[in-house]
Amino acid sequence: SDIEKGTYPHYMLKEIDEQPGVIRKIIAAYSTEEGTLDIDPYIKQAFQHADRLYVIAAGTSYHAGLIGKEYFEKLSGLPVEVHISSEFGYNMPLLSKKPLFLFITQSGETADSRQVLVKVKALGYPSITLTNVPGSTLSREADYTLLLHAGPEIAVASTKAYTAQLAVLAITAYAVSCDAHKLDLKTELAIAANAIQTMTDAKEDLKKLAHTFLTDKRNAFFIGRGLDYYVSLEGALKLKEISYIQAEGFAGGELKHGTIALIEEGTPVIALATQSSVSPNLRGNVKEVTARGAHACILSMEGNNEPDDGLVLPHVHELLTPLASVIPLQLLSYYASLQRGCDVDKPRNLAKSVTVE
Ligand code: G6P
Repeated sequence: SDIEKGTYPHYMLKEIDEQPGVIRKIIAAYSTEEGTLDIDPYIKQAFQHADRLYVIAAGTSYHAGLIGKEYFEKLSGLPVEVHISSEFGYNMPLLSKKPLFLFITQSGETADSRQVLVKVKALGYPSITLTNVPGSTLSREADYTLLLHAGPEIAVASTKAYTAQLAVLAITAYAVSCDAHKLDLKTELAIAANAIQTMTDAKEDLKKLAHTFLTDKRNAFFIGRGLDYYVSLEGALKLKEISYIQAEGFAGGELKHGTIALIEEGTPVIALATQSSVSPNLRGNVKEVTARGAHACILSMEGNNEPDDGLVLPHVHELLTPLASVIPLQLLSYYASLQRGCDVDKPRNLAKSVTVE
């Protein structure tokens, strides 16, 4: 069945490996008879009536939401705010005239997110839940549901749900975009699925890198700019959750405003440099930390890579780089956790879905 580990030692590794297949499944699930990508017409209408989208989520789903904002704003021109559910519910910001709420929740059961849904429903605002679990609480209570089609995710640390969320967010933004699609999203997502595959096939390299670069370290930093910044937040969260190495994700340009004080001899810095418009700046930030003793590993992409880069992704559309760049970060966390003797699938103090506020 779907939820057996088979020959895998951990659910997390199995779920990491399932990602290319999940993206292909999503492409199929959202393809029309004409072969283009589309979503439910009622959901599309809800987007077309809205003057602003409010994305509400927690944890990894929040990190997917940050990337979703770029997709909606760049592809459909709809302004987006992304909020942490536990903050939004108790300190609601000023809302636009015609807000639409999008709840991103793998489980569909997160209490922090549900309390926001209850409040916005009472105010009469329309809502959509993007979830992996049909029939879940948030799916039942929202006006509309968008499904992830990722299959059951068992490991506490979310992997395939995150990449699935990114794919469905891209498809949704694309579907609600009114301009004649300049982007062939279907082809670009298929290319991204292949890039994910290439990265999941690089396990031995990532196992070695985790060993030499991370496993015996006390802390680690992830830096990036633009979309890479949001992926760096997710990379840091993954590492914290399962290896208990203190990790932080930073916007490259912010380092000099504080965090650089923490850089010591041997501090690991994972630098994401996939975005061509900002990768020269990010490479400048890497020089700033290595001059102070940090060990940096640059993750770039074919087309804007340099000879000494530690990891190079196959080329994918710039908006879709997060789908591929997160894979080596998931694998680094997995191997660091394993090498430190941690419980990969069931990290201490964490639950798969948190049904208390
Ligand atoms: C828990 C999990 C996280 C997850 C978060 C949000 O804290 O440990 O991995 O990202 O809940 O979960 P959701 O199901 O709402 O996406």
